[in-house]
Amino acid sequence: MSTTYTLDTSTSRANPTPAPMKRLTVPAIQRRKAGGVTDMPVVMLTAYTARMAQLLDPHCDMLLVGDSLGQVIYGLPSTVPVTLEMMAAHGAAVVRGSYHSIVVIDMPFGSYEASPEQAFASAARLLKETGAAAVKLEGGAAMAPTVRFLTERGIPVVGHVGLTPQAINILGSYAARGRSDAEADKIVSDAVALDKAGAFAIVVEGVVEPIAIAVTEAVAAMVIGIGASAQCDGQVLVTEDMLGLFERTARFVKKYENLAGVIETAVKSYSAEVTARSFPSADQTYAPKD
Ligand code: KIV
Repeated sequence: MSTTYTLDTSTSRANPTPAPMKRLTVPAIQRRKAGGVTDMPVVMLTAYTARMAQLLDPHCDMLLVGDSLGQVIYGLPSTVPVTLEMMAAHGAAVVRGSYHSIVVIDMPFGSYEASPEQAFASAARLLKETGAAAVKLEGGAAMAPTVRFLTERGIPVVGHVGLTPQAINILGSYAARGRSDAEADKIVSDAVALDKAGAFAIVVEGVVEPIAIAVTEAVAAMVIGIGASAQCDGQVLVTEDMLGLFERTARFVKKYENLAGVIETAVKSYSAEVTARSFPSADQTYAPKD
């Protein structure tokens, strides 16, 4: 049965029917990995808007308000220009549109790297203004003291290693990482450092498969793969990529739909009907009372 929503005008909240499951918690996600084995992989997708969150929520464990919204929503050239204000606005929309999934918000570039104190101020603002449960930040061992600082102060953190898009100006491209032994070792040791610092999950992006497997085996945190391996503890994709909204995507994206084609067909029909004055028809126009 599909979910329908009724707007409660007193709270501005859209209440779903059937009633959703209770919202998942970070400890419940952590309990899925016991003795290095994860029985139930974590299902995660990005969401930036309330309506998309409503559609994804019943089928996901975690919704990521990714800073990929810079490119996907705002047409920016990278995630570097994304601001804390953008993340807070979209994060609040996703929390309003979801009931079951843990909402994780990306800390944008420049909002956390300077010091653990800067990271705490930014993360606390995101959680207060949105109602989300956790933040995600990019970087390895260098970020471990920040991850510890946040988790010890009540903020659950998701790490992000491998291909880290906020570092595009250092990396030079979005190619897969870990092709040399030194880089492979660094990715694994970065993940271990984040794990020891208390990250409850770690996104591993764009790495050759053996590294993803090594990271998954090396840490207690849930390892969420993207362009990584089916052996990870869960998977994440950018929703608009997997729905086929963009012609060009990374090799690791599986397109489960061709939304660009669906939209083009619909808009072509609309354009033809407007031109032919066959829209609106009697069904879509108001007749005067007799
Ligand atoms: O910003 C984002 O959407 C992400 C995912 C690709 C993991 O970080």
